[in-house]
Amino acid sequence: MPQITFYKHAPIPMEMHKVKIVQQLNLLPAAERLQKMEEAGFNTFKLHNIDIFMDMLTDSGVNAMSDKMQAAMLQADDAYAGSETFYRMQAKLEEIFGIKHCLPTHQGRACENVLASTLVKPGNCVIMNYHFTTAKAHVTRLGGHVEELVKAEGLIGKSTLPFKGDIDLEALEACIQKETPENVAYLRIEAGTNLIGGQPISYANMKAATEIANRYGITTILDASLLQDNLYFIKTREEEMMDKSVREITRMIADLFDIVYFSARKFGFARGGAILVREESLFHEMEDLITMFEGFLTYGGMSVKEMEAMTVGFDESMDMDVISQGPQFIKYCVDQLDEYGVPVITPGGGLGAHLDAREILSHVPQEEYPSGALACAFYLCGGIRGMERGTLSEERNPDGSEHIASMELVRLAFPRRVFTLSQTEYVLDRVKWVYDHRHLIGGLRFVHEPKTLRFFNGRLEPTSDWPQKLVEAYIADFGTEQ
Ligand code: F0G
Repeated sequence: MPQITFYKHAPIPMEMHKVKIVQQLNLLPAAERLQKMEEAGFNTFKLHNIDIFMDMLTDSGVNAMSDKMQAAMLQADDAYAGSETFYRMQAKLEEIFGIKHCLPTHQGRACENVLASTLVKPGNCVIMNYHFTTAKAHVTRLGGHVEELVKAEGLIGKSTLPFKGDIDLEALEACIQKETPENVAYLRIEAGTNLIGGQPISYANMKAATEIANRYGITTILDASLLQDNLYFIKTREEEMMDKSVREITRMIADLFDIVYFSARKFGFARGGAILVREESLFHEMEDLITMFEGFLTYGGMSVKEMEAMTVGFDESMDMDVISQGPQFIKYCVDQLDEYGVPVITPGGGLGAHLDAREILSHVPQEEYPSGALACAFYLCGGIRGMERGTLSEERNPDGSEHIASMELVRLAFPRRVFTLSQTEYVLDRVKWVYDHRHLIGGLRFVHEPKTLRFFNGRLEPTSDWPQKLVEAYIADFGTEQ
């Protein structure tokens, strides 16, 4: 990666790509946004994309493709069985991860379904550095439970720790002994730990954790969905790894695990997923589930065009010029907000900028979903769609009480190679405005609450007329047009 320095200008992140195809954006006036938010049941998942100016909901399936990825789509080999496209993808994954057996799936949660259905028995424990919503839902669906053993410092919003996704090794050993090794279905390590702010895990910690699991004969699984960001952070923050290439680091990480899976909506910049597994018998056991729920073994529910594109995307994820774009934009955003005094998760991680809604809306109890309310406020005040990552994203306790999230965040995702620096500046400006008017924001309550993954489809309402008041203040400052 060339280190671009400036003559007069302050340092800014530099894009190592140029734009070839664009999509026109739409900025509705604030009053119309209020109406759209009401129609969406105060749930940003339920907004229509046409009504959004800056879609920072996620990076899932919305990262920009390169010209080479698009070009590769033309050579996709359409066949129900035995598609050449699959063999190209499998060979690329074997080249990068060194694992031969590959099970294609339609997306990351499908991998989680297959893995949990194969390995989790009722009463089992699955140990994770931190859960991801879908990864946990499949374990609990099968009667298992999840133990999250991320180091305590990982859950502190403001920090300078370079690897907040590290697992607590002492707690890991103690947990295995308490649960007994036979009852631990697997150890799942998530790269680029999503729900605590896209925070990376160090190679050293992954090595130590998998060594402990191996000592007890426990299967080790890497969720590599956010590996590209984690690779960037290992290369730039972990002293012992800086002289290694991204490819070398990737192989060193993969060598630690029995199984690697990923959402190719993130890793590979396309849409799909895959499970890579070393052991032949386990591979055959999972094959049946793929054919039953995903598709034949040479497409697994994916379009062959996407498979061709992601095969190129895997290679691009080994390029520092490509994988540094997200983290550098996020750092720029996080540093600016931190300087302004907006409570934001530091240091900047991967995936997006994560705002601490518990701090920002300290007057809104977590039972009234401050992260959900703040996410709505960003849409009302700027047309920015973020994602609630807090109590609303949790499932209720078996007795029906709220499971209060240990982190109450709003994520403003940076899909890779999508937004420009001026758009980023606009977001920063509106976030600062919302922060300065935070006292106007109130809570939310459910009017329709699904039992599982309620954040996707739930409908809510405000606990007072705060959205109207907020929009009135916004219009007073910016006028009726924007
Ligand atoms: N694992 C991680 C770490 C993820 O971030 C995701 C998805 C999945 C697994 C599931 O993959 O969506 O392809 O089924 N994260 C998305 C997000 C939804 O917006 O963060 P999927």
